[in-house]
Amino acid sequence: MRGDLERVLFDEPAIHRRLDDIAAQISNDYRERELTVIAVLHGSLMFVADLLRRIPLPLKLECLSVASYHGKAQTSGEVIFKQVTLPDITGRDILVLDDILDSGHTLAAVRETLETARPHSIRICVLLSKKKQRTRKVNADYVGFEIDDEFVVGYGLDFRERYRNLPYIGVLRKELLVQPV
Ligand code: IMP
Ligand code: MG
Repeated sequence: MRGDLERVLFDEPAIHRRLDDIAAQISNDYRERELTVIAVLHGSLMFVADLLRRIPLPLKLECLSVASYHGKAQTSGEVIFKQVTLPDITGRDILVLDDILDSGHTLAAVRETLETARPHSIRICVLLSKKKQRTRKVNADYVGFEIDDEFVVGYGLDFRERYRNLPYIGVLRKELLVQPV
């Protein structure tokens, strides 16, 4: 799988060092509150597991399963929620965790949907944020790394469901992005 990458952006120690920082920030910001974490699956899986183990606060964990790519490298703009009921979040302090902020469609839709359940507060934390003009305006309160507008895989992030198990994050070789399914 390493051969499919153009280059590695963040190796395991770099990711873990950054998680230490974000976890300390979140632990400090939520120390008087009861946190409910909402993980946006599947891309955030590794991130959530490693981050939450660094946050020594009482918290609840819920998962949302959302799809917007349908096997392509560009978002379709249509965000599909795969579960029928939303977690019970009324009056709660919500921290949404996702892998990457790209066009903004996914997190804008997640935020709007969660707001209908009237939580006390919603913040967003992403491991990666692409430096680009977004289609939907989304403000991430915690960002692991800002990256250029390139397609990355590993540490939970996939291309056509592959590469999620790479322990590091890298840029996928461009010719692989245009191969027919
Ligand atoms: P957005 O809706 O365009 O912001 O995209 C968010 C979702 O698209 C993420 O949760 C990822 O699943 C996927 N995505 C966006 N950019 C990348 C990338 O560079 N690599 C892998 N997945 C990506
Ligand atoms: Mg994906």
